Amino acid sequence: MTNLRIPGPTPLPPQVLKSLSKQMINHRGKSYEEIHERVIKNLKVFFQTKNDIFLLTSSGMGGLEAAVANFFSPGDRIVSFTVGEFGQRWADVARAYGADVLQVKFPLGTAVTIEKVKEVLAKEINVKGVFVTLNETATGVLSPVAEIGKIVKADLSGPLFLVDSISSLGAVNCSMDKIGIDVLVTASQKAWMAPPGISMIAVSPKAWEAHKKAKNPRYYFDISLFKKFAEKNQTPATPAVSVIYALDTALQMMVKVGKEKVFKKHLELMKYTREKISKMGLQLFVSDKDASPTVTSIKVPEGVDAHDWLGLMKKKYDVVLAGGMGETKGKIIRIAHMGFVSKKELDEALDAIRESLKEMHVNL
Ligand SMILES: Cc1ncc(COP(=O)(O)O)c(C=O)c1O
Repeated sequence: MTNLRIPGPTPLPPQVLKSLSKQMINHRGKSYEEIHERVIKNLKVFFQTKNDIFLLTSSGMGGLEAAVANFFSPGDRIVSFTVGEFGQRWADVARAYGADVLQVKFPLGTAVTIEKVKEVLAKEINVKGVFVTLNETATGVLSPVAEIGKIVKADLSGPLFLVDSISSLGAVNCSMDKIGIDVLVTASQKAWMAPPGISMIAVSPKAWEAHKKAKNPRYYFDISLFKKFAEKNQTPATPAVSVIYALDTALQMMVKVGKEKVFKKHLELMKYTREKISKMGLQLFVSDKDASPTVTSIKVPEGVDAHDWLGLMKKKYDVVLAGGMGETKGKIIRIAHMGFVSKKELDEALDAIRESLKEMHVNL
């Protein structure tokens, strides 16, 4: 069986696969409402929040677009702290909606620094929103959102703090309420052990206030409508029923294990992967300080064609890893360790990395 180790979509546990084959139900009926209610209740455990959470029928980008459409008006000043391709895309969405975006970029492979956040926000006036990617999947970098949150909260313009946790929530300890995040977005196909198709967005009371005044156009993703339907544990339009079955099963499994254990497992797998990669003589793209608990980036050794290397691992070992994106294309490969994964699958993938390099006569 293919060992899929890309950072989403991630493999599904057998119980989740089974739930995907269940018959359809009336999405305006009691059976659906019970499932919806349970999914939201269990998501709150991992979001660590009492805030509203909505299920959008979309991939992660839909959730990021909903975050722009619902809380801002054209011309609003938004500061985007960007550490890679996905931070870039979110800033682009804000620009598409007419925001006045200040993009503060960090060198690829490094995280947002608190010093820079302090420096930038001290100079800016009337900031309406601050965007940060908790885990930049394109490089495998985790940014310190708890510390950044403190600075954002102290800012006199009172900006909203919005976090893209698409490839990290459900694996990484990020308490929406403790940190004071106003809008938190994630997606089903990453650490949640569910297929693609649902984006989850959580909204703080402060973000609700901003929503009432926000003039950006919206319809499908209008959270006022989601709020109205949530009172009945429904969604405004037809939900992705099968994905919700899967998410329900996966969340029950995750809650049973307990969030602390889930977070610990991901930290252990990160360490394990990084140690093994270093022992092989390969170079990690990200420092220990900024390393992601869900995806590890490895520098492509001199003289190796990344495309050929990935191709060989797929063909000979049936191991599928991801390449770089944008500026890191050809320079790194990425191995994911989130959701339904253990040391066994990682060992197989790490063996494929080592053996394929030998076959390509690469001396490390
Ligand atoms: C951090 C981050 N943001 C945004 C996205 C975009 O999500 P999607 O491809 O589900 O639209 C991804 C996808 O990998 C991501 O990892």
